[in-house]
Amino acid sequence: MARKIIVSNRLPVKVRRADGTMTFEPSEGGLATGLGSVYKEGENIWLGWPGLCVEESEEQQVITELQKERMQPVFLTESDIKEYYEGFSNETLWPTFHYFSQFAVYEQSYWEAYYRVNQKFCEQIVKFANPDDTIWIHDYQLLLLPSMVRESLPDSTIGFFQHIPFPSYEVFRMLPWRKQILQGLLGADLIGFHTYDDVRHFVSSVIHLVGLAASHGIIETGNRSVMVDAFPMGIDYDKYAQTANSEKVSGMVQEFQEALRHRKIILSIDRLDYSKGIPQRLRAFEMFLKQYPEFHEQVTLIMIVVPSRDQVEKYKELKIEVDELVGRINGLYRTLSWAPVQYYYHSFPFEELSAFYRMAHVALVTPMRDGMNLVCKEYIASRNDGTGVLILSEMAGAAKELSEAILINPNDVHQMVGALQQALIVPEENQRVAVASMQATVQKYNIHHWVNLFMDRLTYAKEKQNALKTT
Ligand code: G6P
Repeated sequence: MARKIIVSNRLPVKVRRADGTMTFEPSEGGLATGLGSVYKEGENIWLGWPGLCVEESEEQQVITELQKERMQPVFLTESDIKEYYEGFSNETLWPTFHYFSQFAVYEQSYWEAYYRVNQKFCEQIVKFANPDDTIWIHDYQLLLLPSMVRESLPDSTIGFFQHIPFPSYEVFRMLPWRKQILQGLLGADLIGFHTYDDVRHFVSSVIHLVGLAASHGIIETGNRSVMVDAFPMGIDYDKYAQTANSEKVSGMVQEFQEALRHRKIILSIDRLDYSKGIPQRLRAFEMFLKQYPEFHEQVTLIMIVVPSRDQVEKYKELKIEVDELVGRINGLYRTLSWAPVQYYYHSFPFEELSAFYRMAHVALVTPMRDGMNLVCKEYIASRNDGTGVLILSEMAGAAKELSEAILINPNDVHQMVGALQQALIVPEENQRVAVASMQATVQKYNIHHWVNLFMDRLTYAKEKQNALKTT
């Protein structure tokens, strides 16, 4: 029977090593939940990196533990991690695809490592896959993999989904390895992005750089047709809505509100990443406090920053910048009983996050650029009393769906200040209308809908391909 194989750089598991022993904890990420129904079925598997450098003597233990969860590890060496993960993936592709080309490092050895590790993933797939399996590859760390797999398993069904933006042709073409990257992707039967803009940018790059023809979302490679489409990713709506309704979270909300003296809460949650616009957000909050002293001691910004890629230079610099800005704002405005910014540099358990979402009068989601952004959807799903205000960057894919939010340009600090002031005084009735409409959208286009839509389209793309072959 044909199987489904999910492939991503990182496996949906947190593997940790403490005092020489390894611990394995499933991750709660949306993708893991959504794809649970796929990779946990029958003989299906999820293949990827366990997230740390595993010694040879530990490999068997990791394989055995992960196999229990239907996962298959791809082991990376120290230099793979340095050059493929931190290097090409996060110092070359990530900045370029998020329109931060000035941060991009063009380093041949990073490219070579990227090629080598994509091949390593391919070898693992070939080891486990049957010729007619369906392989769903995820994200920018594995852009070469579709063509590599196509070469080894020409009849397999290959889907690719990119979770980050695809930049405009003018930005993409700055990459020295632009053509190889596009050719790598074109091995897939179906290529998915979050938005139609991403699709447009990708197709335009293919036309200009590879010289192929494309129309109505189909790229003709000569011997195959590749389908390209937008699939805006959703969240596990019920999980967020139910957790927010639970007694445990209600208890936490009460406790946290008391600790914060029932002040109005503005919430900000991100991984530490320059694409998220954290310093810009802090500067806007600082300007807001300066312009609207009547809100002093009335509002608190809860800023949760989850550590990420902390070996990469730009992330280290950003950490210093955020620390300084928070220190400056609190230094200027705090009183004995009030800290304007409550800054946390760590992740939180799921239920505590749910309590924060429930407590927040305003969610401030202002990335400079984001493929989709799921935090804003999680906030909406958690608003069990129907109130709340979402301030959302136009540069997030989610802005295309959540048009009832207060949409801002994250480069426009004055607009952000105005949005904050407006958000804090929106009448409850208006909040309810906007939240209800956004809840309907987020509930309908949830993660399960996204997985089914992609999988159905992939089957269709392959059937069309086969029909063409036989005519
Ligand atoms: C983004 C990417 C994912 C990545 C995640 C965390 O959401 O699209 O592919 O896994 O960030 O980043 P990390 O580098 O820790 O895997």
